[in-house]
Amino acid sequence: MLGGGQQGLSAFPFVAGCSMELRKRTVVARAGTNIALVKYWGKRDQELNLPRTGSISVTLAGLETVTSITVDPALEQDHFELDGRVERGLPLGRVVRFLEIVRGLAGTPRLFARVVSRNSFPTASGLASSASGFAALACAAASAYGLDLGPAELSALARRGSGSAARSIFGGFVEMEPGVAPDGKDARAHQLLPPSEWPLRLVVAVTTEAPKEVSSTAGMALTNDTSPFYEAWVASHSVDLEEARLAIIGRDLEVLGTVMERNCLGMHACMLASRPPLLYWNETTVAVIRAVWGLRARGTPVWFTIDAGPHVKALCTPEAATRVRAALDAVPGVVRTIVAAPGEGVRVETTP
Ligand code: PMV
Repeated sequence: MLGGGQQGLSAFPFVAGCSMELRKRTVVARAGTNIALVKYWGKRDQELNLPRTGSISVTLAGLETVTSITVDPALEQDHFELDGRVERGLPLGRVVRFLEIVRGLAGTPRLFARVVSRNSFPTASGLASSASGFAALACAAASAYGLDLGPAELSALARRGSGSAARSIFGGFVEMEPGVAPDGKDARAHQLLPPSEWPLRLVVAVTTEAPKEVSSTAGMALTNDTSPFYEAWVASHSVDLEEARLAIIGRDLEVLGTVMERNCLGMHACMLASRPPLLYWNETTVAVIRAVWGLRARGTPVWFTIDAGPHVKALCTPEAATRVRAALDAVPGVVRTIVAAPGEGVRVETTP
């Protein structure tokens, strides 16, 4: 359920938003993170954050960001607090840039805000807090600044903060369209299947506590600019999307798992061929891959994917989740495991 109306601006982001009354108000929104089953890697426009390819993901229950935003005419600048810490520098800059977009739509360039966010999962857990973070912020900020956006428009707005955030607007299985419009109005996500329709499990094997060294934005730019394999991966991507989409609609885990692994390995192969090479994995990543392949060879339906980091995410049936978790916990180097199920999309908690 989305707050702030379901109809929205038909031509977002080209219709100016309403000019809201300048009074203090607070909105709280909650969003789950998501994991891409068919990846987004590379941008066709840096400024508008437009992806080169589409992507398919699953939004996760219980691994969430809750964001409260207070727009306040008394504030002279934006403030951002994450997990109890006042943020400055880059994290604050990203939030401010995002709020400037929202203020532009609302026609309130001088109405600043205090943003307080809390993640329900550890920061170095291999789960993208930018996905749930910018989905929650887009939803809360759109409502607080008086914008009446429908889910698709909210998705396009969340994309400006982080490409993967566009998908966390929706629950369950979600497809992101790369769009063709230069201004990005058609680069947004939609739901393929609600979370209750296919109760799979994702087992996250955390392989280090260390934060990643190369951001996804920097890694994408390097791969896009220097990897001789990148265009081949992009060319093979539409087949992966088509097969994954059909597998989700047909609830065929074997086909989905097979596409998921090959699409992820292709993406990492592109990174390895970049100049200089980019390797997000550590020794434990490889050991977990082998553990997943070993489980599968012995009859357990489980497949993996890996994002821009060393952690491994294994997709399996609910029945296999305990066995998969125990096997991954037993891999030397695995710090901990987290098990998650498909969850709901973004929602407003309160609008005082
Ligand atoms: O949304 P970003 O900029 O954090 O990029 C996400 C990149 C991957 O997680 C590797 C793939 C994806 O589609 O989520």
